[in-house]
Amino acid sequence: MSQAGLPPRRAAHHLLEQIIGEGRLMAELIGGGALDHLAPDDRARAQRLATDALRGLDRADRMLKPYFKKAAPSEYVMNALRLGVIEITGGEAAHGVVNAYVEIVGRNQRTASMKGMTNAILRRISEEGPAGWTKRAVPLMPGWLRKPLVAAWGRPAMDAMDAAHFAGAQLDLTCKGDPARVAEAVGGVVLPTGTVRVADAGQVSQMSGFAQGDWWVQDAAAAVPVMMLAPTTGMTVLDLCAAPGGKTMQLAAAGAKVTAVDISEGRIGRVSENLSRVKLTADVMLSDAFDVTGQYDAVLLDAPCSATGTIRRHPDLPYAKDGSEFADLIEQQERLIDHALTLLKPGGKLVYCTCSLLPDEGEVQIEEALERHAGLTVDLSATERAGIDPDWTTYEGGLRLRPDYWPELGGMDGFYIAVLTKP
Ligand SMILES: C[S@@+](CC[C@H](N)C(=O)[O-])C[C@H]1O[C@@H](n2cnc3c(N)ncnc32)[C@H](O)[C@@H]1O
Repeated sequence: MSQAGLPPRRAAHHLLEQIIGEGRLMAELIGGGALDHLAPDDRARAQRLATDALRGLDRADRMLKPYFKKAAPSEYVMNALRLGVIEITGGEAAHGVVNAYVEIVGRNQRTASMKGMTNAILRRISEEGPAGWTKRAVPLMPGWLRKPLVAAWGRPAMDAMDAAHFAGAQLDLTCKGDPARVAEAVGGVVLPTGTVRVADAGQVSQMSGFAQGDWWVQDAAAAVPVMMLAPTTGMTVLDLCAAPGGKTMQLAAAGAKVTAVDISEGRIGRVSENLSRVKLTADVMLSDAFDVTGQYDAVLLDAPCSATGTIRRHPDLPYAKDGSEFADLIEQQERLIDHALTLLKPGGKLVYCTCSLLPDEGEVQIEEALERHAGLTVDLSATERAGIDPDWTTYEGGLRLRPDYWPELGGMDGFYIAVLTKP
């Protein structure tokens, strides 16, 4: 068979092996050079294939299930079949797809005996074609994550979130200046909060205004915490978990005097690089948040979290994680809130936020912080300041954003945000 098209498929298969089998994250693998051996087009193709397979994994598995009389084959074979299903039902010529995945299964000694089965199944799938894909229900998230989310938000909301995750996300830009001008230059639309959204964006660094530093990439939901603070010129703001710096840039663009801190040596450099591209300034510090001292007008705490709000953009997350580290994150968030409060002047504002869909990392954190700290209050006017739908306000006074919100505009990442006032 022709070897054309094999390298990106092998690379996509290897990505799935590492994500599903070893719990590695796609960004970490790609950042670590997993696709560097490929030509740029093949690199993009491998990433797209793996991403599509992860986004549609539950549906692909349901489509494959009738072909296994007993147990499903090994994950190695399953991953080849999943990719085959994605490609065939996506309209790729079946012949080349079937040959490529039979070859991948055949090259592994442990699975070589499954070549015939792989060939037979993928040929049957090709008879179903794209229609066999679209007629099936929306893919669901794995049970370990779906269960607590159904408990938190109910089944209809979860169904809407599954649909939003499956739909994926467009490119969102936060603008340094006038969003309408940026939207015109990049062919995007201005969302109600001022974020510019671009469908069919090409390479980001080639887009109009990138080199000039007119905007930076940031999901519409991720831009809301700084809008809720509404920083003023000269306000001293400590951005305690700052990298890669999306919110630092928003704060600096508003004229705040920003100190940006992050514990990650690998990530802190991104804050400085981003600031310099958009021609903004902040004091950038590599430090553990718990070692930071001082007194600020405001602290932004974008705490490390499960990142379950970002599944639209990172469909690998539910397969790379299993929830086992979430308890540690929740405990760390609590300690970070308590430490952040010590860094505020009386009357100062703490913006707490997480890109999580789990109430334990949002609503419950703030409910408990209010119990722990006498006199601490929620600033209820913050939501209004950001021009956000008041219906999204939560019982303790924070703001809940979910991927199924703004469905007609293309959704948003899941986020929780609360602005607290220190007595
Ligand atoms: C959600 S990300 C921040 C995103 C960033 N605020 C933005 O808008 O671009 C969380 C960050 O917290 C950092 N982090 C985790 N633990 C930390 C600690 N103890 N002290 C400071 N930074 C920490 C991580 O390195 C990570 O960059």
